[in-house]
Amino acid sequence: MKAVILVGGLGTRLKPLTINTPKAMMPVLNTPFLEYVIRRLSRHHITEIVLAISHLAQPIEGYFGDGSRLGVSLSYAIEETALGTAGAVKNAEKYPGGAFLVLNGDIFTDLDLTAMMDFHRQRQSLATIAMTPVEDPTSYGLIETVTRGRIARFLEKPSWEQVTTNMINAGTYILEPEVLSSIPPQTNFSFEHDVFPPLLERGEPIYAFPSSCYWMDIGTPEKYRQLNQDLLSGKSNQYRLDPVTGVSIGEQGYCHPTAEITAPAVIGSHCSIGKNARLTGPLVIGTGGTIAEGAVVEDSIIWHQATIAAGASVRHSIIANDCRLGADSIVEGSVISDNVIVAEGYKMAIGSRIQPGTSIG
Ligand code: GTP
Repeated sequence: MKAVILVGGLGTRLKPLTINTPKAMMPVLNTPFLEYVIRRLSRHHITEIVLAISHLAQPIEGYFGDGSRLGVSLSYAIEETALGTAGAVKNAEKYPGGAFLVLNGDIFTDLDLTAMMDFHRQRQSLATIAMTPVEDPTSYGLIETVTRGRIARFLEKPSWEQVTTNMINAGTYILEPEVLSSIPPQTNFSFEHDVFPPLLERGEPIYAFPSSCYWMDIGTPEKYRQLNQDLLSGKSNQYRLDPVTGVSIGEQGYCHPTAEITAPAVIGSHCSIGKNARLTGPLVIGTGGTIAEGAVVEDSIIWHQATIAAGASVRHSIIANDCRLGADSIVEGSVISDNVIVAEGYKMAIGSRIQPGTSIG
């Protein structure tokens, strides 16, 4: 079976992080998000993969190329303008052949794809949708099922009074090629609104495959941070930190003997951790980071090449590439995009969202 991964969304809710970096390339424990998705497909012997992209294609193509480094064969279906989830798959139509998988490229899950493929075949389903339970289903598409997982009803983003199930569309589909014939070419079309409900109305055999394994969509900064924390604490079977230390430090770095690192933490290669610096997990620091003397980093995700100068502190925040926080500056509960400079001694308002290239203070 081949797979199409949807990586063309604008990632509006993740701005300003997604202004320069497509959502699919956002680092999760210092590895681009999409790499986990591709590796998981490969583990299930799905090695012919199409990436459906509409913007910021270069960083993705530049990093993954033809996929050979990950042992898969990658093709790229590029949209001139975003075509929506179903329109994007239609645009990739020349690639699949036979039943194929579609994956939202912003979902991290341990879903058993092999079991889902078996489920799809056994039921002779036209479209099979993975579904997962969530605590608050009101911002998702709900799926009601009857016997053997046959879908009875979709309910898009209901109010709490309308909620009848906590099972939601988990963003992984197996589709027979006939489904593509209901999608007009070069037209913005979505599976959730324009494809699945009409199939259901026509009484077509569409099924939902339930799974309660680890599942997280990284649609917002909070969820993106949560994913990193969950992986650090071992909630997914796709990542394991050293069980003894709970800390991973990349090569060719320097850590002063008085620096204090509290697990769980992933620190990239070529990082320098200064005298009396205090790093309290869960945290991730990217390649080439400098955490200077007495600086504090706590419960934060810092991308590559950051400088946190002496005495500065970062808590509950996300800091993108190439940022510099001046000495004794304070950042808390904020999201800072690339190439931001924060002046010495500056105290940033809690909950700030800072655009790329800004100098503050
Ligand atoms: P927001 O703008 O914050 O809603 O994010 P998004 O644009 O990524 O939208 P959404 O979360 O609904 O998208 C779900 C998945 O479909 C993500 O993996 C997107 O990359 C992908 N996606 C959404 N729209 C398109 C599109 O028009 N083309 C392609 N190729 N992928 C899309």
